[in-house]
Amino acid sequence: MKEQNIILIGFMGAGKTSVGDRLAARGGTALIDTDRMIEEKARMTVSRIFETGGEAYFRKLETEVLQELLKTAKGDIISAGGGLPLREENRSILKELGEVIYLQVKPETVLMRLRGDKTRPLLQADDVEGRIKSLLTERGPVYEAAAHRTVTADGRTLDEIVDVIIGTM
Ligand code: S3P
Repeated sequence: MKEQNIILIGFMGAGKTSVGDRLAARGGTALIDTDRMIEEKARMTVSRIFETGGEAYFRKLETEVLQELLKTAKGDIISAGGGLPLREENRSILKELGEVIYLQVKPETVLMRLRGDKTRPLLQADDVEGRIKSLLTERGPVYEAAAHRTVTADGRTLDEIVDVIIGTM
């Protein structure tokens, strides 16, 4: 296994965790998920952190976790929360941390996967479809800027996505 970390970024529901799990399994390692690290650190769910400290506090925890990973991660597969690349500071840490891959999906795919989801505070809106579309429009260029490579996830199986990621490394 290479020493280089692979970091998956992209919108909620893009499949970062599923693809990351599969990638990690192929390398015989376990996926590192920034949301889970934050939940352990704060001893609260992501929803609860948003409720009590607001989004800004959550974003601060994301930066802390990234800084921690910069010291500890080696040859790891990391799944980054969907909003983590929003902070410029985080985008530069990401690039330092390893190969950053943007898993790109259409809004329709996100809607199909996450309609009715209660665990993502930013999608608790009356018009979930509108929210997904506007956030994706806003974030698309940010993800592109944060990543070394963009991989389309739509219409591909998990193994196909993993092959594309590994095949071109
Ligand atoms: C968020 C994405 C979530 C989680 C939080 C905020 C976002 O992670 O970090 O709800 O701003 O896009 P996933 O992308 O793993 O769903």
